[in-house]
Amino acid sequence: MRVLFVCLGNICRSPTAEAVMRGLVEERGLAESIEIDSAGTGDWHIGKPADPRAIEAAGIRGVELTSRARQVTESDFDEFDLIVAMDRTNHENLVAIAGGDDSKVRLLREYGDDDDLDVPDPYFGGQDGFEEVLDIIERNCVLLMEELDVDDPDTRRAGPGV
Ligand code: 4NP
Repeated sequence: MRVLFVCLGNICRSPTAEAVMRGLVEERGLAESIEIDSAGTGDWHIGKPADPRAIEAAGIRGVELTSRARQVTESDFDEFDLIVAMDRTNHENLVAIAGGDDSKVRLLREYGDDDDLDVPDPYFGGQDGFEEVLDIIERNCVLLMEELDVDDPDTRRAGPGV
């Protein structure tokens, strides 16, 4: 099972989701079965580490962000089983890259019952925005983890309603 988290710049939200989800996967002893990566729909920050504010906020919670930004490619749609967008704009852009095929693309906040489906973009705000992003990501990654039943292929689901 390969899961790709996607935001706009791949320096704030999706690297955070990647690291949080990897932690959950490792905690459950599933590192051999579930592979996690992240990417951005934009190309501005390719090759850069995560935003220092995201690194700081995650570090306080014992989560280390080590990823380098990369842009989503068409081949990601072949290589990953599930592509999890941080907000509805990312989702729209991903479906467009996939030529209109939304079969592998989900929103992180679909897995919970929050009214708001977007993980808010913290880039132009302050440090408290990064705290809020972490709260949302930690809560929803646990819910996503519950959906990924990798031990039993008969019950494996890519998301709600799949
Ligand atoms: P991210 O945040 O999509 O969560 O990585 C952003 C990072 C950079 C920009 C926007 C959002 N930017 O405009 O450069």
